[in-house]
Amino acid sequence: MKTYVITGTTSGIGNALVKAFADDNIVFAGYRNEDFVVSLKKISPNVIPFYIDMSKKSSVRQAAAYIKSKLPESGKIDTIINAAGCVAAGAVENIDVDDVRKQFEVNTFSHLDFTQRLLPALEGKIINISSMSSFGIFPFVAPYCASKRALDILFNSLYIEKGIKVVSVKPGVTATALWEKSIDLNKKSIEKAKDGYSAAMEYMLANARKNRTGGLDVRKVADLILKIDACENPKPSYTIGADAKFAEILSKLPQEWINFIVKKGLQCKINGK
Ligand SMILES: NC(=O)c1ccc[n+]([C@@H]2O[C@H](COP(=O)([O-])OP(=O)(O)OC[C@H]3O[C@@H](n4cnc5c(N)ncnc54)[C@H](OP(=O)(O)O)[C@@H]3O)[C@@H](O)[C@H]2O)c1
Repeated sequence: MKTYVITGTTSGIGNALVKAFADDNIVFAGYRNEDFVVSLKKISPNVIPFYIDMSKKSSVRQAAAYIKSKLPESGKIDTIINAAGCVAAGAVENIDVDDVRKQFEVNTFSHLDFTQRLLPALEGKIINISSMSSFGIFPFVAPYCASKRALDILFNSLYIEKGIKVVSVKPGVTATALWEKSIDLNKKSIEKAKDGYSAAMEYMLANARKNRTGGLDVRKVADLILKIDACENPKPSYTIGADAKFAEILSKLPQEWINFIVKKGLQCKINGK
């Protein structure tokens, strides 16, 4: 039996991972909404739910301490999977900088803090659920893109400096509640962005609603992560989904070409061409 620590397990990719791992392994499963504790426990008696709010430093630290106190006798963790995340969206011109700070707190800093605290027990690898957004080419979700890029840079350095295996998984749009939740989460910035960017905002909102069902099957992302976990020497980065692969190729072009293509692409989408 291996020991897994996974955050963001109440829905989407994290939840699919708990289901995939919990039959044969101990899985510490992070939640922030108490309502999900029962359903997490129902997955398997091997699941140990733990409370964590990635926006609160104290909660992140308490969660790490709790996990350390509950580790099996071996005292080791085989794999940490940082899956919790949310999307801060809006126009860079007028988005509240505190929302950008919070985005980094939830998607980047808390993962580093949490992982650092578990490192002494870690004997295997770290798998971060980054995103194709890490390629940094998507307007109106710039805080999200930047938070994922920063996550990748920080953790890749951990590999270079300390030799711990770190893998960044970059899915394209995946059929989870993430984007729908982002509409609610970003109400204020979306309203502000309508002033000057109303057509783009309408397009973004329509997309966010579509993504719930129109994206990759979450089990495909989970299957890839299972393979990565089983791999002795995984690559530092994996993209999954045609959109993610396209974003990866695009990101290798000179910045002025990227800007031209993204601007043109957005205009065509907005005008329905
Ligand atoms: N869906 C996509 O298109 C897509 C594409 C690429 C990468 N990703 C990444 O995949 C990861 C999982 O997302 P998902 O698509 O599976 O979406 P999801 O279903 O919304 O899952 C996100 C998970 O993170 C948790 N979470 C959010 N904010 C949190 C906070 N402040 N503290 C603790 N937990 C928090 C959520 O808990 P609650 O239930 O309490 O909200 C949920 O369990 C994220 O890191 C996301 O950025 C998603």
